[in-house]
Amino acid sequence: MGIQYEENRKIFKLDTDNTTYAIALTPEGYIGHAYYGPRLREFGGAYRLRTAEAPFTPSVNKREKSAFLDCFPAEYPTGGIGDYRESCLDVRNGQGSLGAELFYRSHRIEQGKPALEGLPASFGAAGEVETLHLFCEDPILGLRVELLYSAFPKEDVIARSAKISNAGRQPLRLEKAYSACLDMDSQDFEMITLCGSWARERHIQRRRIGYGRQRVSSLKGESSHQEHPFLALASPGATQEQGEVFAMHFVYSGNFIAQAELSQYDQVRMVMGIHGEEFSWKLNPGESFQAPEAVLCYSAEGLGKMTRSFHDFYRDHMIRSPYKYKKRSVLINNWEATYFDFDTEKLLAIAKEAKARGIEMLVMDDGWFGKRNWDDSSLGDWQVNLEKLTGGLPDLVRKVNEIGLEFGIWFEPEMVSPDSDLYRAHPDWAIQIQGREATLSRAQYVLDLSRKEVRDYAYECVASILRSAPISYVKWDMNRQLCDMGSGSLPPDRQQELFHRYVLGLYEMQERLVTEFPQLLLENCSGGGARFDPGMLYYSPQIWCSDDTDAIERLRIQEGTALIYPLSAIGAHVSDCPNHAVGRSTPFATRGHVALAGAFGYELDITKIPEEERAQIPGQIETYHKYEPLMHSGDYYRLLSWTDQKPFDCWMVAAKDGSEALVTYVQVLGAAGRRSKHIFLKGLQPDARYRLEGTQEA
Ligand code: DGJ
Repeated sequence: MGIQYEENRKIFKLDTDNTTYAIALTPEGYIGHAYYGPRLREFGGAYRLRTAEAPFTPSVNKREKSAFLDCFPAEYPTGGIGDYRESCLDVRNGQGSLGAELFYRSHRIEQGKPALEGLPASFGAAGEVETLHLFCEDPILGLRVELLYSAFPKEDVIARSAKISNAGRQPLRLEKAYSACLDMDSQDFEMITLCGSWARERHIQRRRIGYGRQRVSSLKGESSHQEHPFLALASPGATQEQGEVFAMHFVYSGNFIAQAELSQYDQVRMVMGIHGEEFSWKLNPGESFQAPEAVLCYSAEGLGKMTRSFHDFYRDHMIRSPYKYKKRSVLINNWEATYFDFDTEKLLAIAKEAKARGIEMLVMDDGWFGKRNWDDSSLGDWQVNLEKLTGGLPDLVRKVNEIGLEFGIWFEPEMVSPDSDLYRAHPDWAIQIQGREATLSRAQYVLDLSRKEVRDYAYECVASILRSAPISYVKWDMNRQLCDMGSGSLPPDRQQELFHRYVLGLYEMQERLVTEFPQLLLENCSGGGARFDPGMLYYSPQIWCSDDTDAIERLRIQEGTALIYPLSAIGAHVSDCPNHAVGRSTPFATRGHVALAGAFGYELDITKIPEEERAQIPGQIETYHKYEPLMHSGDYYRLLSWTDQKPFDCWMVAAKDGSEALVTYVQVLGAAGRRSKHIFLKGLQPDARYRLEGTQEA
């Protein structure tokens, strides 16, 4: 298969169907990045590391080691010893000094791919993926590092991670442990990132990189609304079809950094990993730290090819849910219909009307527990509010089922309201700095998921409700970021582990959930789309994309999201007008077309919207289910873009065998004196004849 080692020249060559990634060892054992780009039949050799260029030859001239390290294209650069560019690994020894230097020791190539302990990660069987383990060492620290590279040939993806172990006798401290690095020559790259805000997530941003460091990052304890753990470097002017793209995407749901650095020698270093700020990990002798996975993708055919690689990769090698290719019930969620103001009677009225229009599931959102009539109480008290749900939850679920709908429910298990029995009983379970009043956000605190007893409590709250009634779906929400990082259970020298331990705790809880309830359809959510990342995809096949449900705003949000995520992962609902987030009115049909490019549903009071809108629902649902298999497995092409300041937006999904395609065109703004527009379709068979559905046109 695709990974070979050439002993003579000390070169590792990792091939995918269309790409080659090459690693070369220097005589000293430094691990150099030699090549990433179009597939090569043969790799030229280690000359690409340019170690022969004077004066950068450490084995002959030890005086110049710093100059060498400062321009050597490294696979996993270490800090403190003379490479002044961004490092991937910073280690402090027992005396408190920072410095590490890694040398190759051995390697192993295996079919398939190992799981990463406690972390979400891509998977694949032998024949689908091959993995290179590079074992390296800092003999002075007694530090061992295992670099993992998994090559997925069909998807043109390389997944990377690193495991760092203390095999010495002194305790070490990791100050930084990134997951991937890519050192390249500058090509006047443009940097493509996804940025935004609450209700404006993942807008595509493009800028030329300059000297120095430019990054996107999060220190919010989640991947965040504002910046996304994705970075692509593209050749200038790269389009959907043309140009080179080097992309990295992080399989992680907490603090991250994704950075490009243009150095004095016109080299570019691209790195990705857990943010080094507020991160420090004590590594006692015998202990290991597993860094999360970063997904690398190279495309020589523009952004479109990159998009399709990521879509295929996530569908086949990251999402585990049995629903990934299965029909998903069209749901109606009561959030925008009622907010906190509902009871059994109201929900049943919505359910009855929904059933009459062909909707298949009712989801009860926030407000069903404790005394939660607003957002300022009861998180943590997951007992049904019997004043609202008079007959109790099993009774409501039974009645909804009798109407003919499945039932889904909302939770926010990671949080606690100060006004809750849970907080009154366990104030120390909230993340907080001793002696300082913790900062409220949305009137709530964050539970300390690094503590097992807290995780067990929060998990049992969710699980016992799910065990009490036939519940098909859970929306797992998280409505604030983390701050006041203090844990009542960690010693002072481990407090800086809290951000990461929180994420590990979250992953453990979600793993328990999908193991105990394998048939549950789980949708992750975070105040809209603040934790829309590949880590969460490992647990839930769909994620709520944004609290902005306005069809026109969604064009941008969904274009950015679909740049890397398959449409089947993008929660998208038809909502009422004027839109609650932006006040805009759009035709019901347009709202339906836009939501079709996602996991489809409704978010409105169906008992109140006009009859002519209700009448369109059965047709929309029929269309959704008709094209669901195509949308779930087809190739996505971006044709025109409202993001590019055009007055229209257009995308299509073509079946892999080219037998059919669905094209969606949205005219956002009208203009006088214009004729209709030709659209040039992609992904079709050049020698086939296609019929335009509903017409005789071919
Ligand atoms: C944020 C979510 O994105 C909304 O859909 C809704 O569930 C609210 N939270 C409820 O508090």
